[in-house]
Order: sequence, then structure tokens, then C-alpha cells
Amino acid sequence: MNIPHRPRRNRKSAAIRNLVQENSVTVNDLIYPLFLIDGKNKKSEVASMPGILRRSPDLLLKEIESCLKLGITTFDIFPGLSEKLKDKKATESLNKKGLYLSTLRDIKKYFPEAVIMTDVAMDPYSSDGHDGYVKNDEILNDETLEILAKMALAQAEAGADIIGPSDMMDGRVGYIREALDDNGFTNVSIMSYTAKYASAFYGPFRDALDSAPKFGDKKTYQMNPANSKEALLEADLDFNEGADFLMVKPALSYLDVIKLLNDNFNIPIAAYNVSGEYAMVKAAAAKGWIDGGRVRDEILLSMKRAGASVILTYFAKEFALSIK
Ligand code: PBG
Repeated sequence: MNIPHRPRRNRKSAAIRNLVQENSVTVNDLIYPLFLIDGKNKKSEVASMPGILRRSPDLLLKEIESCLKLGITTFDIFPGLSEKLKDKKATESLNKKGLYLSTLRDIKKYFPEAVIMTDVAMDPYSSDGHDGYVKNDEILNDETLEILAKMALAQAEAGADIIGPSDMMDGRVGYIREALDDNGFTNVSIMSYTAKYASAFYGPFRDALDSAPKFGDKKTYQMNPANSKEALLEADLDFNEGADFLMVKPALSYLDVIKLLNDNFNIPIAAYNVSGEYAMVKAAAAKGWIDGGRVRDEILLSMKRAGASVILTYFAKEFALSIK
């Protein structure tokens, strides 16, 4: 046969395959989301996320220490609060002595080398379970911005390195950027949840934090899964408002959006490999229907290949352990 290009030549041994490999995942790329709850020496597994625990502050610090040893440097911390601390205006998010802000300070105190990312949205603190301020069953945009900016400032004061607005209100990146800068936090970064879709893949996360909306859904602020041009619009706005990273969320069903943003913007793109994506792999692996570890690695690689340079993933620790 006269076949000038035989692509199989570059696949003929492991060494050659490694030589020509275009993309790879390393622990440097990963951010590990962690769930924080009140108490001492307390942990509970999230039923729909096998292997993922909610931890009290003392155990969270231990977990961070063990992850740092594995080379994971960056942690996105989410608080689960009791219902009695929630109100319409997410007041608890500003409580310096409260669970979240005091734990952030402790992480920075004990592990100054750790990078802390925080979530800015009202849902864990809101009696309505929405990301914004609710009036007459409507999620108000501009009234929410002020609450978000105060929340972001409180987190920056507690030591956050990267602020992650996950609320999808219009104008929030610029509003938060200005509040940070006006208060001397010019070095605090913003990783904007830029293209955050109204997705069924967040189910297990809302179980973890008991943060599901009390009425309706999030479709008036999170994006329609059918749209990608709209992701470009959101990215344009966030970029111009001063975002340091643009995030796409969920990741696996939105690899095209990751590529679109990466092709059009010269700042790092992050992919959030969300709770439902983790749960599906774990459930099928537990049944013996797939090889969980190999599927995990293939999924993470697909996000890198699509153009994400950062991946937020519940697989971070097991990935780090798997390459040791
Ligand atoms: C809060 C927030 C959510 C997630 C991250 N931040 C849930 C939501 O918007 O309802 C989801 C993360 C996941 O599913 O892993 N605004």
C-alpha cells in the first residue's frame, strides 16, 4: 500500500505516544472544592457524592494540610449553614466571627502558602435559597450587587486570594472589582463564573449544602443551556469589567463553550467539573459499569484539550493520589 501518512507510526509505543501527546493534566491545574460545616471533629459524607465530605473547621484544616502535601495548592471553600442563620439579605456572610470567615482566616494563618478561592453568591446564606435578593418572588439585580460586593470585601479581608462570583447578576464583576480596589485589595483576583448555565448537574452540590431554591428555579439569572453566543457576550462583559479568569460551568456538556472562550479571550479559562458530573462517574463505577479512574482522567483531559487551563474538580485529591 502506498500510504504516505501513517498516523499509527506515532502510536507505536508508549514512549512515542508520550512524546507526541498534546495535552496533559497535572495537579497544578486543579482547584479542589471543599465543603465546610460547623462543629468540632465532625464530618459527613455527601450521599450523592461518594468520597466527598462536609467537614468542621478542624478537620478541614487537616484535609488542606494533606492536600498541600500532594501538591494541590488551591481550594474553593463552600459553607453549609443551618437554616436559622439564613435570612433575606444573607447577613451571615458578613459575620467575621461566623463559620466561613473565621475558617478562611485560620487557613491563611496555618497555611499561608495555600491559595484560597471563595464563592460569592447569596444562596448558602439566603432564606430564599437564591443567589440574589428576592422581592415579590423576583430576583432583583442591582439590589443584589451591593450585598455581593460587601460579601466579597469581607472574604478579601479574611484572606481570600481569588473571589469567585457565582451568582450571574449583571454587572457584578465590575461592581466587586471597584469595591475591592477602593479598599486596597487590588491584588485579590476575580475568577468569574462567566458562562454558568441553569443546569441539572448541580443537584448533588445543593444536597451537600442544603441550598436548593425555596421556590422556582435559577433560569432568570443562570444561562440557557441552548446558548453559546450568549456566553461570548457574558465573557466580553466580565473581561471588560476586570475578571482575571473566565469560568465555564458545568464543564463536560459545555466543552464547546470552553473552546469558544479560549479562542476569543487572552486570559485563563477555568472549567468547573461540577457535582453531577462527579456523581455520574462514581455511580457508574460503583456498579462496575465503567472504570472510574480511567473515565475520570479522560474527562479531566477533555477539559484541558478544550482549552481550560484551570479545572475545579471534586476529583482533585484522588487524581493527585493516583499519580503518586
Ligand atoms: C452557588 C454555587 C452552585 C455551585 C457552585 N456555586 C450551585 C448553584 O448555582 O445552584 C454548583 C457546584 C457544583 O454543582 O459542583 N451559587
